Amino acid sequence: MTNNMFFIANWKMFGDIKSVNSIKKVINFSKNKKYKKAQIIYCPPYTLISKLLRLVKNSKIKIGAQNCHYSQTPGPFTGSINTDLIKSCGAKYVIIGHSENRALGDTNNIINLKIKSALKKKLKVIFCIGETLKEKRKKKTNLILSSQIKYGLKNIKKNNNIIFAYEPVWSIGTGIIPKINNLEKQVSDIKKMINKVWKLKKPRIIYGGSVNSNNITELKKISSIKGFLVGGASQNSKNFIDIIKKTIN
Ligand code: 13P
Repeated sequence: MTNNMFFIANWKMFGDIKSVNSIKKVINFSKNKKYKKAQIIYCPPYTLISKLLRLVKNSKIKIGAQNCHYSQTPGPFTGSINTDLIKSCGAKYVIIGHSENRALGDTNNIINLKIKSALKKKLKVIFCIGETLKEKRKKKTNLILSSQIKYGLKNIKKNNNIIFAYEPVWSIGTGIIPKINNLEKQVSDIKKMINKVWKLKKPRIIYGGSVNSNNITELKKISSIKGFLVGGASQNSKNFIDIIKKTIN
């Protein structure tokens, strides 16, 4: 991975076969040399991955999955998709540890297995960490984040194939973003936490949580943030393009 700014669209459980065509606008936009630093990645529902891969074929846009099963080998896991299947269909990235999946039972240990499986298959990982509102109120943010990092990366050798996505759970889908000073300090703390485990000189840290084309002008001021993981606003091509344009101008 290079010094790109990442713009990662997490469609969550949204989008259908028709909506996929709306990304043609983003494909055209991505060919504009002015925005060559923008590394655009779409993570649609599994069912749309192949269709999106065909559409982005002659562009620099990459495709990722939103989650994976932890098992490295095929098995009796009805309804699940592992990294082997993701890799074989042509996707290059996978989101792991999203709070919406932690809420459904993904522990740090399961997330660790998923990350190992993804790296083994040479998929790049978008590793999500974040504290809930309750944890924040109890001033446990750094405790939670450091254990998510420590156990998520347990027994994994230092590498450059992980993008760390800081997504405070209280910011996801709420329209609320952290105060810029607080966020800057939090990213610097996260850097130290990663450094404790891996001694990475320049970990790639991106931010997610209610990113939109209005608040992006504030968020982009934080130079230690190397991109954005965008939920709701990524479902509309114009909004997503606006976020990229306003970040890189
Ligand atoms: P929103 O941008 O809709 O708040 O979602 C953020 C998110 O969870 C991205 O992974």
